Amino acid sequence: MKASVAFSVLVSAAASATPLQPLVERQGSTGTGPYPAKYTTDPGLPNHTIYVPQNLNAVNGTMPVVVWGNGACSANGLSQANFLTEIASWGFIAIASGGPNQQGSTTAAMMKASIDFASSSTSGVFAKVNKNAIAAAGWSCGGVEAYEQAQDARVKALGIFNSGQMSEDGTRKVVPYIKGKPVFYFLGGPSDIAYNNGMRDYRALSSGVPSWNGNLPVGHGGTYDQVNGGKFGKAAQLYFRWVLKGDTSVSSFFTGDGARADGWTVERKDLDKIKV
Ligand SMILES: *[C@@H]1O[C@H](CO)[C@@H](O)[C@H](O)[C@H]1NC(C)=O
Ligand SMILES: *[C@@H]1O[C@H](CO)[C@@H](O)[C@H](O)[C@H]1NC(C)=O
Repeated sequence: MKASVAFSVLVSAAASATPLQPLVERQGSTGTGPYPAKYTTDPGLPNHTIYVPQNLNAVNGTMPVVVWGNGACSANGLSQANFLTEIASWGFIAIASGGPNQQGSTTAAMMKASIDFASSSTSGVFAKVNKNAIAAAGWSCGGVEAYEQAQDARVKALGIFNSGQMSEDGTRKVVPYIKGKPVFYFLGGPSDIAYNNGMRDYRALSSGVPSWNGNLPVGHGGTYDQVNGGKFGKAAQLYFRWVLKGDTSVSSFFTGDGARADGWTVERKDLDKIKV
């Protein structure tokens, strides 16, 4: 648990350095995708923040779901607003644990509640949901919450952002048992407090699990707060478009040189096993 505390403390410290501002100011834009996005809430899923395209009627096809755990396990669902708005703008529903500006901490059970809700809702912003295309992801402490959904058959992909299992024991007990779904790591280089954790996990994955790790040398804070979530936002939307929407036209970012051109140092295994 020590590293979990370390992840939380570090990210909290970074977050408290910048006082919370209203979303309009925090949000640099509405995302780079074809569907300008926003956040909303649903009384059926209290204590969560839901990012969706502003005009659902404009969305072609169905919308996969990304359930997200915030850095520091913060219960403020706007903590990574720029990043999640970017993902939603590509025709996704992104559900952060924690309501807008809520205080306190999230739990992995809140992420499971997001999965339950997305799997059973068919109205409102969920009218076009694709409940067969759900990914669990999170930053730092939130990434550990995502790991807790790894054995859920409804979860088709995992995204571990500046995170990893706390201990070698955690790695041994969790990571080799993940089967049949891609697991991608988005890390901040050797100065990232979670670098060793994420790299250790990447190496512990079973053979045959499609996996990728990228390090952008920006440290633990990533680029989530930049306009459109910066390079982490771009890499994330490309990952989810590939594995949840089956858009193979963007896969070369990972299989080819796209990520490297963006400054990521990359390793990859078994990406040919991604079935879309
Ligand atoms: C939402 O959060 C509030 C405040 O922490 C809590 O009292 C309430 O039980 C939570 N609701 C659900 C459904 O978890
Ligand atoms: C959605 O479909 C309409 C009608 O075919 C098309 O004009 C539009 O470009 C499509 N939008 C996207 C983002 O693919």
